[in-house]
Amino acid sequence: MRKKIVAGNWKMNLSLEEAQSLHSEINDALETSEFNCEVYHFVPSIYLSTLLESDQKVNVGSQNGYPAKNGAFTGEVSMSQLSGIGTKAVLIGHSERRQLFNESDILLKEKVDAALEEDLKVFFCCGETLEERESGQYKQTVIKQLKNSLFHLPSKEFAKIVIAYEPIWAIGTGKTASPEQANEMHKSIREAIEHAYTQEIAQNTSILYGGSCKPSNATELLNQSDIDGGLIGGASLKSEDFLKIIATYN
Ligand code: G3P
Repeated sequence: MRKKIVAGNWKMNLSLEEAQSLHSEINDALETSEFNCEVYHFVPSIYLSTLLESDQKVNVGSQNGYPAKNGAFTGEVSMSQLSGIGTKAVLIGHSERRQLFNESDILLKEKVDAALEEDLKVFFCCGETLEERESGQYKQTVIKQLKNSLFHLPSKEFAKIVIAYEPIWAIGTGKTASPEQANEMHKSIREAIEHAYTQEIAQNTSILYGGSCKPSNATELLNQSDIDGGLIGGASLKSEDFLKIIATYN
């Protein structure tokens, strides 16, 4: 049975005080209530040590990591440094990393390999642009991203991957993919995994949706047959909204 996962991607937001307060609010709420999914906060790397301290219901992950173990890479944080402080997971391939920081499929492949070597749980992001959606190229785009950065993995390693489908035109725009659009793409991703690996691996891979997911649309969206959770941006910065999205799996 594949896991349901609700993850908040805080991006480059929150002061340290706000981050500690939000993390505690969500942890405290989950301590005292039933919830039926794994919960993650992907936080700015400077906050990792602080937020990893407490015993918590919320898993803490990094929004990025560099593949080299060490060396002259000013400003970067390695996957081994992340795992060394107890980080549980890492986001790889977010569209903002691809577009703003020119991260190629090859670099992302190296990041995936380095993260798995450090036993970090990999949340691999993929998604198409509005042009690719409107031209009907969206499936080809996403499957190519998977093939170029993930499908080289042996089955045992691939089984550790979580995939987050985030149509770029839905990120931060308030223009959410319809449940049908999202589920269609999730099904295509699952079919591609089955073709590359096995039906069992495909059925057991958690595929999350991200892109303007809010309490108002989460119930219908995140309960589609091939959607196994959400990667939440803006709505994860407000504890009340994030908890409502987590509750869609109750
Ligand atoms: O990684 C999640 C993020 O890209 C989605 O952002 O604000 O549209 O929920 P948002």
